[in-house]
Amino acid sequence: MHRNRWFIAAALVALLAMLAALGLGQEDDAAMATLRQPRVAPPYPEDTPSTGRVREFELVAAPTALPLLDGRSLEVWAYNGQVPGPTLRATHGDTVRVRFTNKLPQPTTIHWHGIRLPNGMDGVPGVTQPPIPPGGTFLYEFKVKDAGTYWFHPHLRGSEQVERGLFGVLIVEDQKPGPFSRELVWVLDDWRLDASGQIDGRFNTRHDLAHDGRWGQVSTVNGAVQPEVPLQPGERVRLRMVNVANGRVFAPSFEGLGASVIAIDGLATDRPQPASRLELAPGNRVDLDFTVPEALSNQRMEVMDHFTRRPFPLATLVVSGEVVRPPEVAAVAPPPSPDLSPARALQPAETFRLNARRGGPFGIEWTINDEAFHHEGEHASAHHKVYRLPAHQWATLRFVNESSRLHPMHVHGQFFRVVARNGASVDEGHWRDTVLIRPRETVDVAMFPQDVGAWMLHCHIQEHAEAGMMTLVDVHAEGSQ
Ligand code: C2O
Ligand code: CU
Repeated sequence: MHRNRWFIAAALVALLAMLAALGLGQEDDAAMATLRQPRVAPPYPEDTPSTGRVREFELVAAPTALPLLDGRSLEVWAYNGQVPGPTLRATHGDTVRVRFTNKLPQPTTIHWHGIRLPNGMDGVPGVTQPPIPPGGTFLYEFKVKDAGTYWFHPHLRGSEQVERGLFGVLIVEDQKPGPFSRELVWVLDDWRLDASGQIDGRFNTRHDLAHDGRWGQVSTVNGAVQPEVPLQPGERVRLRMVNVANGRVFAPSFEGLGASVIAIDGLATDRPQPASRLELAPGNRVDLDFTVPEALSNQRMEVMDHFTRRPFPLATLVVSGEVVRPPEVAAVAPPPSPDLSPARALQPAETFRLNARRGGPFGIEWTINDEAFHHEGEHASAHHKVYRLPAHQWATLRFVNESSRLHPMHVHGQFFRVVARNGASVDEGHWRDTVLIRPRETVDVAMFPQDVGAWMLHCHIQEHAEAGMMTLVDVHAEGSQ
């Protein structure tokens, strides 16, 4: 693969040199200079060696009823009859193969959020695959190139399908086991219920569209309201958190545990960071590392959420039992910090202005550069602009939030770094795939695209995305148009 690219690049250089010698196209000098530049070292590995192992899973999406929330029967849509869906596990370098069957009353797809994969496996209807009709099946298969915490969810009518319970966690484990005696996975969500206690069937309401999407009145961890989480003193815990909510931002606080952040949106942070001000916008993941203090023996500790004005408890840690001695293994060393200076020197390759206007199928449209993008049906946007970026080069993108609402902007198929907020240079010390842009805020991100194809860039508030706040970034190989 590499060989081939080099060969093609070399052939192009030779061809351009010939043309120049013939006196054709002086303006090609610039192109030649670009081609002659040595290939920039990628800031994270382009690929990973395959383990040769294939992890096979069966997923079925179907309506069902489950004892969730307060324990009464709740009608949901679920993967394999559970909400959250099953946690799929693979090891870094494995191939994941998922046989998916749609038993929903409407078409769907599965998107593998945060995973770098071949474009055709990305689950975007009308872009990377046709929608999977009711009764239909699809085979997803990809090698997992990055260890970390990822998740999956439908990419069609997400405001309804995700809200009804379709989401699951995909964990890519490091090849060497970490220093932990316990792993916890917390899927954070909220639910809007109607008077009968069922999921409110009114989706994409004017109110939700005009605000930060659909926020519910009940928040849950793994489908339960303020669950008790039993822990033993001395345990070293890796807590993987995922925000799957349509619109709600979570800001859980873990004070008193000495917790540190070891990964965000999948990838390890450059160095452990204090877990003082956590924020998970829809789509975000945060992995924590903490040791349960022995001083907490026989005590309870509430994990409170602080994003809204009125803090509320998310879960209760209940510490009891014998003191545990975690395994004495060295932690996996984080990868070296990338040199962002070449990216910081660049002008934005594209500026994305985020705003709203009247119109569209719901009465309000959310736009990127005055365009609304819709996935399906009569609203499909055939003449939508596609933004183009060359692979294997740094590019910066600028998000300008011209609205007074929140927009967690997500890019498929790659990681990015936040390099500036409102013009002030920023070093977050980690990669992301989703960044929350606050009202009137401008955020610059640096990307180093590696996988070619048309990748979605969109707001992860499901209602904003569905009302048009999506676009495509087409990553093309070097030298190609
Ligand atoms: Cu989790 Cu296109 O998103
Ligand atoms: Cu938004």
